[in-house]
Amino acid sequence: MAAGVTRVASHSSFWWGAATAAYQIEGAADEDGRGPSIWDTFCAEPGRVTDGSSGAVACDSYHRWPEDLDLLADLGANAYRFSLAWPRVQPRGQGPVNQAGIGYYDRLLDGLLERGIAPVPTLFHWDLPQALQDAGGWMARETAERFAEYASVVAEALGDRVAAWGTLNEPFVHMALGYAFGTHAPGETLLLDAFAAGHHQLLAHGLATQALRAGPGDAPVMLVNNLTPVRAASTSATDTAAARAYDAFHNRMFLDSVLRGAYPDELGAAVAGAGAVVRDGDLSVIGQPLDLLGVNYYNPTQVKAPGPGSPLPFELVPIEGPAQTGFGWPVVPDGLTELLVGLRDTYGAGLPPIVVTENGCSYPDELSPDGTVDDSDRIAFLDAHIGAVGEARAAGVDVRGYLVWSLLDNFEWAEGYTQRFGLTYVDFSTGRRTPKASYGWLRDRIARGW
Ligand code: FCB
Repeated sequence: MAAGVTRVASHSSFWWGAATAAYQIEGAADEDGRGPSIWDTFCAEPGRVTDGSSGAVACDSYHRWPEDLDLLADLGANAYRFSLAWPRVQPRGQGPVNQAGIGYYDRLLDGLLERGIAPVPTLFHWDLPQALQDAGGWMARETAERFAEYASVVAEALGDRVAAWGTLNEPFVHMALGYAFGTHAPGETLLLDAFAAGHHQLLAHGLATQALRAGPGDAPVMLVNNLTPVRAASTSATDTAAARAYDAFHNRMFLDSVLRGAYPDELGAAVAGAGAVVRDGDLSVIGQPLDLLGVNYYNPTQVKAPGPGSPLPFELVPIEGPAQTGFGWPVVPDGLTELLVGLRDTYGAGLPPIVVTENGCSYPDELSPDGTVDDSDRIAFLDAHIGAVGEARAAGVDVRGYLVWSLLDNFEWAEGYTQRFGLTYVDFSTGRRTPKASYGWLRDRIARGW
């Protein structure tokens, strides 16, 4: 680890930076032996992605990474969260490491350390090797074992230079959108039966944690969850029960299991219907101590009781009132303080230090003829949310980092290139990067520190 790089963000050295994910920025889908992932398959199916696009080229960060690392360095970032593409490292999801693929991450890590930036890789940000999907994907228990082997491979190759490991990105979102509702790859519509895909991801997290700890280096291990404060649409008993059920699926399934070694009772029917999915001993593997909790926050969720005959125990209701991002997501900075303080109050001493691993917003940003991008909405969003983190810290919550989603405009999954989340504008026909006004604002904000 190079001098000047902070391995574990501490109170005196807060991690400021940005986050990205492999499929959303790398491109180079067929290069250096990368195998196909479920997102390559999904994007090729008509109607799956709004603009019919894919991540085949994306931001071309596979070739332009030195420029991207320079953008981080000029921002004053001291941490970068990115993800490793499993199908680059093991093209079929198992077997020997693809040296050309891991070589990319090897250079990326060295490039970060040369610039004094802590590397924070996530092992899985939704791009499962297609060969593993053909064997059942996350509905198959064996995928958790393959993931542990993959974790050993990357720990061996990269563990000496990593500042913190993220195991999975947002297992709830991958379970819900990928397996319950089918709007993300792999496009399954299993509703509550998708529980198995969540459980196997959590088991994979636990097994991978053991594998990472057995490897070189002593980087802390983190699970990255998408968390949302849940609000009942009314004070009625039925709406309140629906809100509790939604909270159980979205938040507590991925928190109680990891921090308390148990699933919340409110999962009820989903767990019962899953038969032999949860085996003896699984929850102790899942619930082993965690070093850091990654929190991705975008907005709260409002819930009401479902209509008669609904297969789900809740129904989502739009939040009216606050301003909305380009995605239509309500802008509620207080929700972040509420979430962080709530985590501390609920889990107490069982809660590890927190890193806000994603927070940000999409707007229809335009490159003006004078070459600037005026994204004042994003500046207001970031200012308010960083303020919300400050409130939580002032209330005694141990928050050790804030990473903006995202460094670059990129491939936003089922929305293709229609949602720009970047601090940096990307012209997708040329790959040209232009820092937006928010980039300059954040640089000044980082320089001021807390
Ligand atoms: C999160 C994902 C990330 C990005 C943002 C907008 O749920 O982790 O890849 O798509 O949303």
